[in-house]
Amino acid sequence: MRVDILTLFPEMFESPLGHSILKRGQDKGLVDIVLTNIRNFAADSYNKVDDKPYGGGPGMVMMPGPVFECFEHVQKLSPDKGRPILLTPQGQKFDHAKALELSAEKRLILIAGRYEGIDERIRIGLGAEQISIGDYVLSGGELAAMVIIDAVVRLLAGALGDEDSSKDDSFSQGLLEYPQYTRPEVFRDMKVPDILLSGDHAKIAEWRRQQTIERTKKWRPDLMNDNNNKNEKSES
Ligand code: ADE
Repeated sequence: MRVDILTLFPEMFESPLGHSILKRGQDKGLVDIVLTNIRNFAADSYNKVDDKPYGGGPGMVMMPGPVFECFEHVQKLSPDKGRPILLTPQGQKFDHAKALELSAEKRLILIAGRYEGIDERIRIGLGAEQISIGDYVLSGGELAAMVIIDAVVRLLAGALGDEDSSKDDSFSQGLLEYPQYTRPEVFRDMKVPDILLSGDHAKIAEWRRQQTIERTKKWRPDLMNDNNNKNEKSES
């Protein structure tokens, strides 16, 4: 998979892309992440990429020109046209289902907006899908792009050390994950549940399934009503 990121702040990505699963995914050749600075496509010698909003109001708005020039340049860097995505609080809310859907793409082109907003013609003209990572406003789309890349890359086959380790993640079956324990057996008077030390794999699997259902009912009851929820369907 190839992921292009169009941003005014490529340096923000250095640390997240340089560590852990995102680094391993790139090192293994599972994902090629390419950063392009929108400012390099500014039309004037001041590298201007934003301006005051027509009609007045606070803040600055990203101009369409540099974003279009940047996008058209980037799109030509690879034969696959890619799926353009605009990070914005106005977008469809990102979730596990969307992460799975995006992980099947050959190429994503993520556009991170900044300032008070972006000129509406960027959304219209690029035909980009809008994605939000939650109902709050960030200072820009960069952090949202990182969240999406992290969630997508860990779903690519071979990205995780243990092939199975995303299978039981929270949300992978539409529910929360069961509780995990490691050594020591007793920590500050809190003991690992006996069942996990029993060696009875069938009983452990059943206990985990029950835990998954109980915690989801308690902490995220909204997920129990989700039609995509496979466990709940088999329960009823
Ligand atoms: N840009 C600013 N806020 C955002 C959000 N919540 N999701 C995606 N992009 C954003």
